[in-house]
Amino acid sequence: MSQIKAAITAVHGYVPEFVLSNEVLETMVDTTDEWITTRTGIKERRILREKGKGSSDLGAEVVKGLLEKSGTHADEIDLLICATVTPDFAFPATANIIAEKTGLRNAWSFDINAACSGFLYSLVTASQFIENGKYKKVMVIGAEKMSMMTDYTDRTTCVLFGDAAAGVLLEPTMDNVGIMDSILRTDGSGTFHLYQKGGGAVKPASFRTIAGGEHFIYQEGQQVFKFAVTRMADVSVEIMDRNNLKSENVAWLVPHQANLRIIDATARRMGINKDQVMINIEKYGNTTSATIPLCLWEWEKKLNKDDNVILAAFGGGFTWGSVYVKWAYDS
Ligand code: ACO
Repeated sequence: MSQIKAAITAVHGYVPEFVLSNEVLETMVDTTDEWITTRTGIKERRILREKGKGSSDLGAEVVKGLLEKSGTHADEIDLLICATVTPDFAFPATANIIAEKTGLRNAWSFDINAACSGFLYSLVTASQFIENGKYKKVMVIGAEKMSMMTDYTDRTTCVLFGDAAAGVLLEPTMDNVGIMDSILRTDGSGTFHLYQKGGGAVKPASFRTIAGGEHFIYQEGQQVFKFAVTRMADVSVEIMDRNNLKSENVAWLVPHQANLRIIDATARRMGINKDQVMINIEKYGNTTSATIPLCLWEWEKKLNKDDNVILAAFGGGFTWGSVYVKWAYDS
């Protein structure tokens, strides 16, 4: 008996105009284009510089784009999920603000915080509401203004992150396409390797937390690298095995864009050629929950119906996972 599946029926992305290049970073901290390129693969990243603008402004552009591309009226959207670690405010949810900015009057909305795995967590959450028959149109976006918590005097982190938003529309289908399978994982022992020390309930904002730079990203890069490189590949290989997918059956690997070396290692473990891997880290850096849909958006024209696509991510938490998608449409 065929089941309802959640199909991605539209993709859109948005990046702010301002480009922060490696060359400019060389004038800000003790780094070089050569170090950044060989250690990470990043050449430039986008920054949302306008005062008073937040992740919701980036996300709203994505929602507007998705509505327009899919010919959907705002009133038709049932649910909006926004993955973000850079919400406009501690509360209310950034998704609520995006819904207001884009006129989603009949939707409910909430945020998911799973760092760089946020898009995958949100996609899988959203797909449940479609598969159980409850909703017909659900939007999932990742929206991040990473520059708001990046310390531009810390060379170990400021070269990595950028601002962007991207997302998808999910709709039900009885075709055998859409979200086919997923593996999601958490390991809270990773908390203190990658986090923002101040500003939460444990260490509320104070003069001391500000003076100590505790509102910026804190990352023990090598520790995180070690976990990321194994965990992301583990779940990607597992999802291939349990769906009887050989590397030649996979049209695209869409990895989280944190580091080109992690991406290469994951592809190697999966037996996937580099030309089957979506990589745009050189242009945008690590945009946390926006990286995966940003790739789908840029590669949309190359995606064909029934393509087997593996999405894979690793992020703060630690969180990680992989999602097997059978692409639902020809562009
Ligand atoms: N320019 C020049 N030198 C630098 C820079 C820089 N920008 N940054 C660090 N260095 C130096 C270090 O100080 C160190 O110098 P030392 O040997 O004199 O002490 C040397 O380079 C090597 O530093 P490492 O930290 O060992 O460099 P590494 O090769 O590990 O690369 C990086 C660092 C890019 C951060 C890497 O560890 C990484 O990608 N980690 C994983 C990131 C990730 O996947 N995060 C998860 C998602 S993010 C999220 O969830 C929000």
